[in-house]
Amino acid sequence: MSKNFQKDFPPMKNDLILRAARGETTERVPVWIMRQAGRYLPEFLKFKEEHGNDFFHIVQTPNLACEITLQPIRRFDLDAAIIFSDILVIPQALGMTCEMVKGKGPHFPEPLREPEDIKKLNENVVVEETLGYLMDAITLTRHKLEGKVPLIGFSGAPWTLMAYMIEGGGSKTTSNAKKWLYKHSEATSLLLQKLTNVIVDYLVAQVRAGAQMLQVFESCAECLSPYLFTLYAFPHLEEIAVRVKQRLGKDAVPMVIFAKGASYAIRELSQSSYDVIGLDWTVPVEDARLQAPNCVLQGNLDPCGLYASKDDLIRATKSMVRSFGTKKYIANLGHGIYPDMDPEQVKIFIDTIHSYSESLNNQ
Ligand code: CP3
Repeated sequence: MSKNFQKDFPPMKNDLILRAARGETTERVPVWIMRQAGRYLPEFLKFKEEHGNDFFHIVQTPNLACEITLQPIRRFDLDAAIIFSDILVIPQALGMTCEMVKGKGPHFPEPLREPEDIKKLNENVVVEETLGYLMDAITLTRHKLEGKVPLIGFSGAPWTLMAYMIEGGGSKTTSNAKKWLYKHSEATSLLLQKLTNVIVDYLVAQVRAGAQMLQVFESCAECLSPYLFTLYAFPHLEEIAVRVKQRLGKDAVPMVIFAKGASYAIRELSQSSYDVIGLDWTVPVEDARLQAPNCVLQGNLDPCGLYASKDDLIRATKSMVRSFGTKKYIANLGHGIYPDMDPEQVKIFIDTIHSYSESLNNQ
């Protein structure tokens, strides 16, 4: 299915985010929200219930993943859709079991414990086969979007996936995984390279299936020191962007790097091959602009800002747009939206970004 379809996709009616990602001027600031399809939406909860509350079943069934991807697009004036999946499908493709435990999050019953365990991981993963369901979901969704907004594909970054594979789930410190960085340097490099190779294939396949922008999530960057980031995370992040662009063409698709908690690395990332740097909410925008003067930036309202009163949310959103400016900017939250957030507040956030940035542009 994921071959020879590209020319058949509906023409784009809104490509603001693609133009902004390339640094072009846009009439208003584009906005999307990390985790925009998810548990804060009653229609998501209902749909999930109807399908056995089985997260990975939905992810692996293209028409179900497509439906959930479209839900926030129907409700809000968003400027992009992001395909419904999870970063942990790569460890699954490598042969690891990962379950989504209700109220707890992802769980690996058999995490990597010793460097020897790397040998148990599948060799020569063919992503178009093992993760073919995702490519089919992307192609289907591109059609069903009818050109309304571009579709974002994504992957976890090597260090973040390694952290989950060793910790066996989420971890505040990732100290077990960091132990590998200090104790098993060679095995660490082997594992990170293995992940890098699969991630490159995975991202290329997503674009061939129809993804129009890619985001790489380095969500566990906050646990690293600048030294460890430079040694173990950055080289693989850079290799991913370089190889994806070599395979697809330099301008084929904009790439976003979101390294959560890595404000220490903004300068380094600004010299990378990524087109856009995603910022979490702890980063002062002025500092980021100084460190990455020529880059397109994405972010970064504190997700908890959505708990504020309507007036305070509008104030904070306007202040965010003012500090980034309306050029070289894609609006987002500084991390994913939480399950108990009010969809009405999401609408206010999105609409304020649009109306306020348009009014600034017309001044
Ligand atoms: O953004 C989107 O709407 C697209 C879908 C998406 C999901 N996960 C769906 C999901 C994306 C882009 C992700 C990325 C992801 N997954 C990351 C990187 C982003 C980040 O948050 O830093 C990480 C670290 C994961 C791993 C993961 N998946 C965790 C820690 C959890 C549990 C915590 C939580 O937020 O629910 C998940 C589960 C998950 N992934 C859900 C969704 C909608 C909830 C599943 C459910 O309904 O119970």
